[in-house]
Amino acid sequence: MEIEVEKVVPYQTNDAKKAQIETMFDNIAHKYDFLNHLLSLGIDIIWRKRAIREISAVNPEVILDMATGTGDFAFEALLIHPKRVVALDLSQNMLDIGIEKAKNKRNGQHIEWVKGDSEQLGFADSSFDAITVGFGVRNFQNLEKGLSELGRVMKPDGMIAILEPSFPTNPFLRFLFNIHFRYITPFIGKIFSRDSSAYSYLPNSVSAFPQGDSFCEILKKTGFNDTKHYPLTFGMCALYTARK
Ligand SMILES: C[S@@+](CC[C@H](N)C(=O)[O-])C[C@H]1O[C@@H](n2cnc3c(N)ncnc32)[C@H](O)[C@@H]1O
Repeated sequence: MEIEVEKVVPYQTNDAKKAQIETMFDNIAHKYDFLNHLLSLGIDIIWRKRAIREISAVNPEVILDMATGTGDFAFEALLIHPKRVVALDLSQNMLDIGIEKAKNKRNGQHIEWVKGDSEQLGFADSSFDAITVGFGVRNFQNLEKGLSELGRVMKPDGMIAILEPSFPTNPFLRFLFNIHFRYITPFIGKIFSRDSSAYSYLPNSVSAFPQGDSFCEILKKTGFNDTKHYPLTFGMCALYTARK
């Protein structure tokens, strides 16, 4: 059965979701970091740090940063001194910005940049000690297929950490968050990125994404166990961790 978020696409074309997502991130790559930090007021940096703290529990030597975009999660992962980080993304323009940024990062040469697709990974089973996915799973064309592939390439004693935006449970904060997300985000996104669809797609895809226990159930269905859900910053972001 198709999951609600799989039907949410940025553009009204006949292209598959995957092709539309690749086009969208290629279009906004030049403004992605600026808008990401502006729209989250820089709190996204703290969320990634928190996720890396969780995966450090398994002392990962080889980490996959799935849907790496411009690489911020991969750079954060370097701080726990893995031997290697594989940073993979659909969008070449996003990767190119990450590759440029890596030149000025300590140990940036430990990151291997790969253009690829979460649903068809060219890695052997059990290749990675830990996997991170920052604000990426919502964009998968087939969520269960993408997660199953991640489970396949993760070692049995590994850990996955997934970040996704979510809605605060407190009604007042939820109201403010909705205004920010539904009106301010698309407005600012349109002005700076010149892709009006991209920043309308963001709130629409977050609204359709399974939250909390529902997402943990999907993780279990796709081969993970010991799933945990940590609401961050009043529930504006969800951190999920799981083992195999
Ligand atoms: C919102 S960005 C997140 C970037 C980064 N992880 C971060 O924390 O800022 C989502 C990224 O997911 C990538 N993506 C979406 N679907 C993908 C897929 N099926 N396989 C690989 N990457 C994908 C997009 O190209 C985009 O760069």
